[in-house]
Amino acid sequence: MMSLSINRAAMRAAAPARQYAIASQSVRFASTKTLKDAVAEVVPAKREQLKKLKADYNDANLGQIKLENLLGGMRGLKVMLWEGSVLDSERGIAFHGKSIPDCEKVLPTAQDIGLSGKEMLPESMLWLLLTGQVPSKEEVKQLSAELASKGKLPSYAEKIIDSFPKTMHPMTQFASAVASLNHDSKFAEAYKQGVRKTEYWQPTLEDSIDLIAKLPAIAARIYHNVFGRGDGVQKIDSNLDLIGNYSQMIGYGDNEGMIDYLRLYIAIHGDHEGGNVSAHTAHLVGSALSDPYLSYSAALLGLAGPLHGLANQEVLGWALDMQKKVGDNASESDIKEFLWTTLKSGRVVPGYGHAVLRMPDPRFSALSRFCDTRPELKNSSIVQLVQKTSKVAPEVLKEHGKTKNPYPNVDAASGCVLYEYGLKEWSYYTVIFGISRALGALPQLVMDRALGLPIERPKSLSMDALEELLKK
Ligand SMILES: CC(C)(COP(=O)(O)OP(=O)(O)OC[C@H]1O[C@@H](n2cnc3c(N)ncnc32)[C@H](O)[C@@H]1OP(=O)(O)O)[C@@H](O)C(=O)NCCC(=O)NCCS
Repeated sequence: MMSLSINRAAMRAAAPARQYAIASQSVRFASTKTLKDAVAEVVPAKREQLKKLKADYNDANLGQIKLENLLGGMRGLKVMLWEGSVLDSERGIAFHGKSIPDCEKVLPTAQDIGLSGKEMLPESMLWLLLTGQVPSKEEVKQLSAELASKGKLPSYAEKIIDSFPKTMHPMTQFASAVASLNHDSKFAEAYKQGVRKTEYWQPTLEDSIDLIAKLPAIAARIYHNVFGRGDGVQKIDSNLDLIGNYSQMIGYGDNEGMIDYLRLYIAIHGDHEGGNVSAHTAHLVGSALSDPYLSYSAALLGLAGPLHGLANQEVLGWALDMQKKVGDNASESDIKEFLWTTLKSGRVVPGYGHAVLRMPDPRFSALSRFCDTRPELKNSSIVQLVQKTSKVAPEVLKEHGKTKNPYPNVDAASGCVLYEYGLKEWSYYTVIFGISRALGALPQLVMDRALGLPIERPKSLSMDALEELLKK
């Protein structure tokens, strides 16, 4: 075993490293920078920054590791590099230093690229996450066109998706379909051909863009197969943005409110720093040089857990149960009573609490703001109930006294809007989250490779070993 790996390494070292030819299939409008050009400009500065950090501070202490950190899910330990966003417990998420309201002001919207819709585009967020820069309208338009040109699934992937039983959870289908696309991974192929380590990021970026382009078609096909909605055909219009095309495929092409909601939802769910289960999983699996399809498939399986992405599905089921019990125009005391019934039965209140945040989630506030601007949502009884609950629940959770953060997180609001727009199949909701999380997890994988970060391998200890260590 040992000698086999040494031989492989020796063979790879001896073989002349191949230069990776990038930008083979990008859509390029005259004189407009492609996303790949923009990333290529950023990489040298990032490498320089890392070099300087190492040179100046390699021995610096970032805090103590206490037993409570080890036993408490590694909360608070500063042990990962993550470029796209930083989550502050009191201020919420910032994408390269930009809060959600900042992004709402500066990131190009659908209107900016000649479509209708006022919300920021996921393409704009992807550009920001990858490069740290706000893209121009032309750059976003070009990126939309590139994603549209790469959005169709190969027929083997369609067959794989069509073979899944309808009763299989949509997230299991999603993760499996994404993994299957590694059949065409440019990173895996380039690695086999002996690409230089300094160039790993380039095929990683190509795979990442290909995958982000195809996620809507995978998600739409699953939606059609499981729920019989949408037309099941991948009609991708090169003049539409990523979510415009996704909305068409799932049968919402004429619903302006829903299309714009999906744009906002997918842009703001894109990244939430690196330690959450899905992002961390992509980074961990990717650190073994698994290609972006395998890494992101693993991330989706983490997203499918009820304490993470599946919470948005849980919230809606719970909110509808509450609605059945308390009716429309429920009083605060009815809602309080329902909250206490949930807590007394030993369950968590879904959509509340957070591992890092100690404030109402700014993503929740952004979705609430969207609801307030749309007449069709303002009058919705389920949206009203969810909003009323967000005012009552913090007091109840404070009195309950367990959760460190009694405020709503993004999942408290996200599902009820989909429901109101007619997308009532909650077991599908996490798939939409899964389209989004790629916007942050895959750019970090590109950066991991541009910076040459090593395989992740923390130290674990048994309780006996811990006792021995602590008694010393
Ligand atoms: C998000 C979540 C997993 C964070 O977990 P965490 O970091 O361990 O949270 P805390 O440190 O505040 O947990 C301390 C205690 O409060 C409880 N708690 C946390 N959130 C709670 C909630 N919404 N309702 C009831 N109890 C809650 C925890 O279960 C834990 O109880 P325990 O000591 O009996 O195990 C947790 O708040 C939760 O389960 N929320 C509901 C699910 C959800 O909305 N998930 C989506 C997150 S974006």
